[in-house]
Amino acid sequence: MHIITLIPGDGIGPSISEAATRVIEATGAQITWEFAAAGIGAMDQFRDPLPQATIDSIHKNKVALKGPLTTHMGKGFRSVNVALRKEFDLYINLRPAKSYEGAPSRYKNVDLVMFRENIEEFYSGIEHYVDAQKSAAETIGIVTRFGSERIVRAAFEYARKHHRKKVTIVHKANIMKFSGGLFLDVAREVAAQYPDIEAEDRIVDNMAMQLVLNPNQFDVIVTTNLFGDILSDLCSGLVGGLGLAPGANIGSSAAIFEAVHGSAPDIAEKNIANPSAIILAGAMMLHHLGESERAVKIEKAIAAVVKESKYVTRDLNPSSTVGTKAMADAIIEKIHSL
Ligand code: NAI
Repeated sequence: MHIITLIPGDGIGPSISEAATRVIEATGAQITWEFAAAGIGAMDQFRDPLPQATIDSIHKNKVALKGPLTTHMGKGFRSVNVALRKEFDLYINLRPAKSYEGAPSRYKNVDLVMFRENIEEFYSGIEHYVDAQKSAAETIGIVTRFGSERIVRAAFEYARKHHRKKVTIVHKANIMKFSGGLFLDVAREVAAQYPDIEAEDRIVDNMAMQLVLNPNQFDVIVTTNLFGDILSDLCSGLVGGLGLAPGANIGSSAAIFEAVHGSAPDIAEKNIANPSAIILAGAMMLHHLGESERAVKIEKAIAAVVKESKYVTRDLNPSSTVGTKAMADAIIEKIHSL
């Protein structure tokens, strides 16, 4: 029996989280969900976007499944996602992007794994206006040797464990000679300790172009926070969009699993959100919990449903009228038939 903190989230969050819990339970996994609030919902209810009870629950359970949380642009409270990553030192943001037969995409057989540094640099929240008139603003991005070393090592360890062939280090050391330069130097030092795995490095702008030209040339990618955020959305675009892109935030003492996408306010409460990304995040969670057999069942069931392209939401088949719940039902049916 596992006790997992469940944060339903904002916008499409509650509907896709509910779909995910039903699918995970259909595998036979014994899970008690401990509901916890965060984001706009928590703000309305507790006047706090990240209540202490939620933090305590994750500290206790060490594993959480989280729906997306809304962060208003340029105003309001700081990102709860960033706060959670900092609170639990979740320094690895692991974002796989994999082709699914049947998903609309320009490419085939894409199988990328992004390791994004998750705490440092431009997301550390060290920013201010330089004067009261707001005539200029400054954001400070600090890159440390410690932070760079552990994310690059995580990427190489993953490559070794999962029999991956190559790690691509992505940076902008030609312009950001200090922060980018430090990351690249440390990454090369770490790479030298893994002679069994091919290592290469790319400047981020070239990397964006190369990914679009031929994503199949890449395998594992490791980079700093902002570049990883942007490139992982790009990678999900290579495999048919955000609807199939899961993510994990992992630290040494806790892990939070979520979709790459946000709360999608434009489609909230319309029953058209694709639940697959958070369901696949649930599969990553089951792997993390040592329940890989059950995780693989979810992955196979989603692959089968997407391939048939019948019981899928309209982001995967524009002529479909199938909703979030019905797609989850189809995935559950497949799990039972496996
Ligand atoms: P978004 O990822 O919510 O939406 C981008 C586009 O993808 C929209 O057109 C949306 O309808 C579509 N989309 C997203 N998820 C989908 C799904 N499951 N099925 C079908 N279509 C889907 O990004 P956006 O609009 O930039 O951000 C909305 C809010 O989400 C913001 O407040 C942002 O801060 C937050 N956000 C939260 C994240 C998290 O909690 N981890 C991650 C990214 C954004």
